[in-house]
Amino acid sequence: MAENSAAIGAAGSEDGAAGAESAREQAVETALGKLDLDTKARLLGGQDMWSLPAVPEIGLRSIVMSDGPIGVRGVRWTADDPSVALPSPTALAASWDPALARRAGHLLAQEARRKGVHVLLAPTVNLHRTPLGGRHFEAYSEDPYLTGAIGTGYVQGVQDGGVGTTVKHYVGNDAETDRFTVDSVIAPRPLRELYLAPFEAIVRNAHPWGIMTAYNQVNGVTMTEHRYLVNEVLRGEWGFDGYNVSDWMAARSTKGDIEGGLDVAMPGPQTVYGEALAAAVRAGEVEESAVDAAVRNVLRLAARVGALEGAPPVVTEPPAALDGDALAREIARRGVVLVRNENGALPLASGGTVALSGAAARDARILGGGSAQVFPDHTVSPLDGLTAALPEGALTFTLGADPSDELTPAGSVSSGFSLRAVCRDADGTVLGEGSLPNGQVQWIGDDLPAGVTHEALASIEVTGTFTPRESGEHSFGTRGLGAFTLRVAGETVFDGLQAMGPESDPFEAFFGSPVERAKVALTAGETVEVSLLHPLDKEFAAPLPAVMFSFVHLGPRRDPDELIAEAVEAARAADTAVVVVATTERVESEGFDRKDLALPGRQDELVRAVAAANPNTVVVVNAGSPVEMPWREDVAAILLSWFPGQEGGAALADVLTGAEEPGGRLPTTWPVALADVPVTEVTPTDGELAYTEGVFIGYRAWDKAGATPAYAFGHGLGYTSWAYDSLEVTPTAAKVRITNTGTRTGREVVQIYLAPNGDTVERPARWLAAFASVEAGPGESVETEIPLPARAFEIWDEEAEGWARVTGTYEVGAAHSLTDTRLTATLDI
Ligand code: BGC
Repeated sequence: MAENSAAIGAAGSEDGAAGAESAREQAVETALGKLDLDTKARLLGGQDMWSLPAVPEIGLRSIVMSDGPIGVRGVRWTADDPSVALPSPTALAASWDPALARRAGHLLAQEARRKGVHVLLAPTVNLHRTPLGGRHFEAYSEDPYLTGAIGTGYVQGVQDGGVGTTVKHYVGNDAETDRFTVDSVIAPRPLRELYLAPFEAIVRNAHPWGIMTAYNQVNGVTMTEHRYLVNEVLRGEWGFDGYNVSDWMAARSTKGDIEGGLDVAMPGPQTVYGEALAAAVRAGEVEESAVDAAVRNVLRLAARVGALEGAPPVVTEPPAALDGDALAREIARRGVVLVRNENGALPLASGGTVALSGAAARDARILGGGSAQVFPDHTVSPLDGLTAALPEGALTFTLGADPSDELTPAGSVSSGFSLRAVCRDADGTVLGEGSLPNGQVQWIGDDLPAGVTHEALASIEVTGTFTPRESGEHSFGTRGLGAFTLRVAGETVFDGLQAMGPESDPFEAFFGSPVERAKVALTAGETVEVSLLHPLDKEFAAPLPAVMFSFVHLGPRRDPDELIAEAVEAARAADTAVVVVATTERVESEGFDRKDLALPGRQDELVRAVAAANPNTVVVVNAGSPVEMPWREDVAAILLSWFPGQEGGAALADVLTGAEEPGGRLPTTWPVALADVPVTEVTPTDGELAYTEGVFIGYRAWDKAGATPAYAFGHGLGYTSWAYDSLEVTPTAAKVRITNTGTRTGREVVQIYLAPNGDTVERPARWLAAFASVEAGPGESVETEIPLPARAFEIWDEEAEGWARVTGTYEVGAAHSLTDTRLTATLDI
């Protein structure tokens, strides 16, 4: 379980820590006393996309924030500024190991310090209410307790390194459709027992220095103005003393936001705070004390991260440096969930041959789309990982099926492009040039090429050369809004406009679809000139200072039947076939929800055809959230690798070869088909998204519906076996003894579920109360005492507006998964 020791390197003794805290509070009050109204109001709005203004007169440096959660992007949105990319949050949660999450936090703090970042915009602790949620991959679990435990470890880890966290998105942001305006209508019980619960656990156990209020409304009040949930619940009941920042562009009302407890409006420089806030105070519309309260929270943050002179930072000596690549690999293998393994198909027998197929085996999807994106300096695909791990000649690769026939930024998948961006003013004079690793231009805030300003910039031309690897019809296109002129090999192939669709997100240029504009026949090895000119037009400008568009490309398409036939032939000739299937960034991303759970393209056909040719077929699912696997009973083994981060392929090879055990357990129920999923509504009606299912989401809902998923919550196989020997329970702990009955060392996640007997109130049939990981060698027995939190026996009493312990008899199960209970005991409460 999560360690809850004080921050590493924090002032040694408890007295020392208390002394430092009071010195910080004093420094905060002193600094606050020196500020005039205008400076205070200015301090509460972003000065740009990622930072707050410095106030040198009081020794306050600029506080820099950055996304999160799988890496630290820094203030630039570009591959030129690389970051370690850890596995997706769901993969981290699949480890069921808060101590591992804490180590992930240590690495992220190290990355933040390297990049001059004081506050990480993470973790995301919204829940997996439905697998259709577009940011499902970015959240931990459908279970609030597991989410809170992993989030606690993560926040402790980042803050051990002296870097702040921003737990997000508070609250009810569990889907993406109309996310800026949707009203999530949630009754008090589910709000408390499910959606607020991880925030509460993290605030109480890890004391985060920040929280981010969401775009959406909850029960009719927009979250940045939600006095009840922010001032009364978060600060009042739970004792949160950090800063509260709006999600980017969520703050819409000067008076509403400041009175609702919002401390910081991001991004800047145009915000509802600053001059507007000072004016509102002068006009008598807003009390200056509300401004002071917000400034105090910002100054406290500055003091904690060491950005306020005279205030001792919380951490003076960060934890020992970590090897990012090694940790990324460890988390990836600890998160891989082996859901099926027939006849010991895995680990692979040594000396055998492997036929690998699937586009994602070569071009791995290592992370989900949107603000969680970071740019690692290298990635290890399954093909790379297996090539390194297997003897020469043991591995073949065929493409088999490509999940996407969409165009992607030129050079991001296909090589052969050499591109740069030329920036001109209104007269056509070149202001500056920027290098481009691929056809994606994403300049946010002041992150512009040298010599270029948003004021002077009138057009951008992505220009350079392309030397194709393959002869045939190459497709070229655009992504983004506004006017574009596209030239390939000396010809103008498109000259026109892309307007916003009716249902678009304000970040359409960022998340929107690429559009094919022309097909051009090219010859392998023959270099041609390419150019995409994009004159800027206010009408199409993003809602913040940014330039976002892409020059997109797709190489010649092969006949899909032929591709599958090649993979089948290779599979037939090998001892084992490994097929990697994946979703695409058009399926899983911030900015929109999913429409179905099907694997895109002809990947299901590929798996079926390969499995028919080779009974030893192993499928690797490279998806951030559940997908339908209609062939799941016909293959020998299935590994869920999530979005596995930059070292995913190396971790996969570790697990396939048996060098390491796959360590993951499902943090979310895996359905057979979307039609069986109990909660699927993500589209608001008249602006409202009613959480009509109450406290029944995830396995709680599956149990209620009496439905059987493909794989239950908590399920996951390792390479050894376990006997559960004994279970003793008291109202505060479960003592479990287990024995490793297999032939190799392994790790078991012992899960404790509570099931009420003859309930007097409407409650789920059972729920996760606690868990612990245990490691043991072959034949070894281990006893673990797992604390049972009091909250596990409580419900939110809507009438009394408080937590109420539900007395009665409970069956306590010690389990390998929700549906694999090994021992039970009865407990009277
Ligand atoms: C996302 C946040 C993110 C912020 C800054 C928003 O669109 O919802 O999670 O931290 O952008 O990138």
